[in-house]
Amino acid sequence: MEPHPFEILILSDIHYAGREERHRVGHEARAIANPLLRSLARAYRHWFWLRDPFAHNYLLDEVCSRERGPDMVLVNGDLSCDTAFVGHSDEASFQSASECLERLRSVYGDRLHAIYGDHELGKTSLFGGQGGLRCASWDRCVRELAMPPFWHKKVGRYHCIGVVSSLVALPVYLAETLESERSRWHRLRSEHMACIRAAFESVRGDERVLLFCHDPTALPFLLEMPEVAVRLSQVERTVIGHLHSQRLMRLSRKLAGLPAIDFLGHSVRRLSTALGQARLWEKFRVLLCPSLAGIELFKDGGYWRATLDLRRETEVVFHFQPLHWSRKTYVKLE
Ligand SMILES: [Fe+2]
Repeated sequence: MEPHPFEILILSDIHYAGREERHRVGHEARAIANPLLRSLARAYRHWFWLRDPFAHNYLLDEVCSRERGPDMVLVNGDLSCDTAFVGHSDEASFQSASECLERLRSVYGDRLHAIYGDHELGKTSLFGGQGGLRCASWDRCVRELAMPPFWHKKVGRYHCIGVVSSLVALPVYLAETLESERSRWHRLRSEHMACIRAAFESVRGDERVLLFCHDPTALPFLLEMPEVAVRLSQVERTVIGHLHSQRLMRLSRKLAGLPAIDFLGHSVRRLSTALGQARLWEKFRVLLCPSLAGIELFKDGGYWRATLDLRRETEVVFHFQPLHWSRKTYVKLE
């Protein structure tokens, strides 16, 4: 019997920085050969995105000390800073993810469930074009970090389902994989899609779905699955991450329908393709869980507390919990 009311804590994009990653100051700039592009990337990180990506671990501590009693904790992807751009196959990124999970598991034990973000597996750097998905990262997540790739838990009349967005959206990410690993990625995707199909087939007509999917780029691919499409009206909310800020979420809604940009490299093509399909996200009733820190310009991070009333047929109530920056220990970028 589930407790009543049932409370879910939802965090996303923690981007925890372990000791090894904190030593990689200026990692992104070093990956950019063109000096002009390097300056532009520095300005973008400094004023807009995040000046010091390694300075916000304390926000995780704050959540852990504030929130002791949720019935379930969902982390919606991106545990580490992924400073080598190849996910947790990189030792330093693995160390960050391990520390992050250890911290959370020490407080929440088996109430914690971690969904895969794109940085778990690797992702080409935005400006430098380095890195990408690695099968070794997949193996470490499954075996060493004990992260089940597919997650499905029934709470009252709710099916909570967590998917690996990079696998579902593999046609978009394929250019970031190694040629020698492509057949394995295709196989992993087929297995994952079969799990999603089976989960949606098990949803009865009077039940509801709470979907957790880090990168909304995956949503149009889910919509192509008849088993998902037929239950779409029962998807009460789809919690996404990846965008880090509610203001960026609003901006992507405005840019929905943008044509794919092919001439500025793979990262721009991936982003513009996702935005081109952003109108379809609304069919899933998307709710963005920002990163704990938010972005530099707005400092608008936080997390969600969701309450499920298991006795009545009312919708899940979401309360946003803002987090405030209390330390500005910026590391000088090289
Ligand atoms: Fe992220």
